[in-house]
Amino acid sequence: MKKFLMQQLEAALLKRQKVIVRDITGLGRERRVPLEFLIKNDYIRTSALELAAQEIYEAGVQGAAAELGVFTGDFAQYINQVFPDRKLYLFDTFSGFDKRDLQADHARGHHTRDNQRFKTGSIDLVMSKMKHPANCIVKAGYFPDTAEGLEDERYCFVSIDADLYNPIYEGLKYFYPRLSKGGYLFVHDYNRDIFKGAKEAVRQYCAENGLTFFPLTDSGGSAVLTK
Ligand SMILES: C[S@@+](CC[C@H](N)C(=O)[O-])C[C@H]1O[C@@H](n2cnc3c(N)ncnc32)[C@H](O)[C@@H]1O
Repeated sequence: MKKFLMQQLEAALLKRQKVIVRDITGLGRERRVPLEFLIKNDYIRTSALELAAQEIYEAGVQGAAAELGVFTGDFAQYINQVFPDRKLYLFDTFSGFDKRDLQADHARGHHTRDNQRFKTGSIDLVMSKMKHPANCIVKAGYFPDTAEGLEDERYCFVSIDADLYNPIYEGLKYFYPRLSKGGYLFVHDYNRDIFKGAKEAVRQYCAENGLTFFPLTDSGGSAVLTK
């Protein structure tokens, strides 16, 4: 009876594009991302971040963390939390998509729409979510211009969540060569139909550089690159 009720519940949730996910078993330790974060947000993406951080620490991988496409810092706050002793670079215009990037998507035949929501990014709001604010370095403005002066930086973990072809391709061009061996690079929206430029940028960069990646089953269908 209990099994039947669970199956009914799961079927009803699936119709609403929600699933019940079994938690990771046998970790032998408490989860490092607090339970309320795992419940409120994308469980798979957040759990994958936690396990990537575990690999990075256990292998002694050096370097800073970074996110390109921060918006209100919902994902960046977990990066800050799971890398308590690393710098965290936060790259965003904090005023939404740039016209040049939207035009480039349109020129590629993608009907990407501007998102008014992203125009309301706020550095203060982002910083208020950070558990280790002293680690954060805000790089506000147009990427890749904001990477200038960071040619010698090295990264252990990078999240690219910029939606459009140009910043994602430029992000891969800047970050991947600077990713430490054993590091991880997540590209959000790889499998999201409304942002076709994401898949195109990942496939192009990987084909040009002989790289492979893993498609994650999070809500954005992220691509995960390693080195
Ligand atoms: C989907 S939102 C990021 C969501 C965020 N990671 C979160 O956890 O909520 C995409 C962000 O990418 C930023 N962005 C897009 N193109 C950019 C560029 N060329 N330079 C800097 N930021 C950019 C936008 O301003 C927007 O805030």
